[in-house]
Amino acid sequence: MSTDPQTESIAALIELHRGLERQGPGDTGFSRQLLQQLGPMPANLRIADLGCGSGAAALLLAEHYQCPVTAVDSCSVFIDELKLRARQAGLAYLITPIQADMAELGAELDWPLACIDLLWSEGAAYNLGFERALSGWRPFLKDNGIAVVSEMSWFTDDPPQPAFDFWSAAYPTMGSESENSDRARRAGYRVLDTRRLPSDVWWKNYYTPLRARIQQVEMTPAMQVVVQETETEMELFEKFSDSYGYTFYILQAT
Ligand SMILES: C[S@@+](CC[C@H](N)C(=O)[O-])C[C@H]1O[C@@H](n2cnc3c(N)ncnc32)[C@H](O)[C@@H]1O
Repeated sequence: MSTDPQTESIAALIELHRGLERQGPGDTGFSRQLLQQLGPMPANLRIADLGCGSGAAALLLAEHYQCPVTAVDSCSVFIDELKLRARQAGLAYLITPIQADMAELGAELDWPLACIDLLWSEGAAYNLGFERALSGWRPFLKDNGIAVVSEMSWFTDDPPQPAFDFWSAAYPTMGSESENSDRARRAGYRVLDTRRLPSDVWWKNYYTPLRARIQQVEMTPAMQVVVQETETEMELFEKFSDSYGYTFYILQAT
């Protein structure tokens, strides 16, 4: 039976990220600072982590607020990993991991409108496109609810050509922070703050564990392509991390 190349490439990408603490750049200390910045939240907080992967953020949110967290990801491998991690952390009673499409919160999950106080999403909105993701999620947030969403962003209006060429192909609608802030406003949010994830944590928490994982995986043809792209991505970030990176958009539903 033959499998189409896109399916093989997604399977390789999942296999490459299996067992890692994070499936994208992020940092618990940095996220804790954001949570401090948000200040007091309502009692009986309802929290969602969308595109949760194996749950780095969901675990932190549950531990920090001691409130229920619904964690959604389309990948069953990562959802199973989150179930295990939540049990190991003694947080399974607070975290509900759900395998579903985060673009279909109403249709697939039957979420009522205005049910979320705090929506968190790290490194996942780009799968839908930043503006489409924010627009689609907005009806499920309560008025004045908070969304913290990280998004790959240009830090300069004049990016270096090699980085521009790579990201124009990989993520054609990648925007600057000001473009993304405009997109957020159009989607029904006010922008409370933007905070850049420091480049050193990309290496510490994501690229270094990923490099170690590359040594472990079976090098199928599809894996070779995914690894080559990942190596190129890392080389570019090594050279040009001043020009782009993950910005956390701290938003309030208007
Ligand atoms: C770069 S990873 C980030 C994961 C996690 N938030 C983290 O920071 O470790 C992006 C995640 O989005 C998930 N994803 C992609 N498209 C999705 C969709 N339509 N619905 C739900 N999850 C999706 C992927 O399975 C993956 O786990």
